[in-house]
Amino acid sequence: MTLRVKVKERLGRKFDEEIRFFKGWMSNTRAVGAIIPTSSITARRMAGVVNPASGLPVLELGPGTGVITKAILETGLPPEKLFAVEFSTDFYNHLVARFSGVNFINGDAFDLDKTLGDLSDATFDSIVSAVPLLNFPMHRRVALIEDLLGRIPVGRPVVQISYGPLSPVVAMPDRYQISHLDFVVRNIPPAQLWTYRRTH
Ligand SMILES: C[S@@+](CC[C@H](N)C(=O)[O-])C[C@H]1O[C@@H](n2cnc3c(N)ncnc32)[C@H](O)[C@@H]1O
Repeated sequence: MTLRVKVKERLGRKFDEEIRFFKGWMSNTRAVGAIIPTSSITARRMAGVVNPASGLPVLELGPGTGVITKAILETGLPPEKLFAVEFSTDFYNHLVARFSGVNFINGDAFDLDKTLGDLSDATFDSIVSAVPLLNFPMHRRVALIEDLLGRIPVGRPVVQISYGPLSPVVAMPDRYQISHLDFVVRNIPPAQLWTYRRTH
């Protein structure tokens, strides 16, 4: 395959992802949250928290077009070890067709006991979330983070992308620790990455 054909194919796929994202965004702006898909730099930074050697599965929330899913798989995590919860059925159908072996679940990240079904008691290595938290009230954001932290070992991270200057989840020092992981300017809009960990 020539370089020109390869580049054309890549651009075609990127364009296709953006159209799909935009359609998802138009039909449900509250749920999608961002304007165009996450950049691959941001995705790699977020996937960098995953420990593929832990032997534990990884949970992804709000995979959308699959940019972060791809970066998680590139860490060497076997696809069967990745569980990804996507609310939009359009995105879900596209993800299932694109990534074979990954366990996609068409459901709600805010209702994980129901969404995960038999896996509701599973321990994950880490959780990578692109759910648009700022579109939800603070008490629901805190409840989600606390729910997520109960599903991973003490000290392991939930990484969350957000677009405001502050952590989208308020500090609760006695319950979890917040760290700023990165500010990625090469993302539209520029993205802040946060990690949350239980200390005990
Ligand atoms: C900002 S977009 C993520 C974009 C993705 N990183 C990409 O580059 O395509 C947020 C995603 O979270 C999904 N989402 C929103 N609310 C959700 C929920 N309650 N449960 C699961 N997914 C949700 C949206 O459908 C959308 O795919």
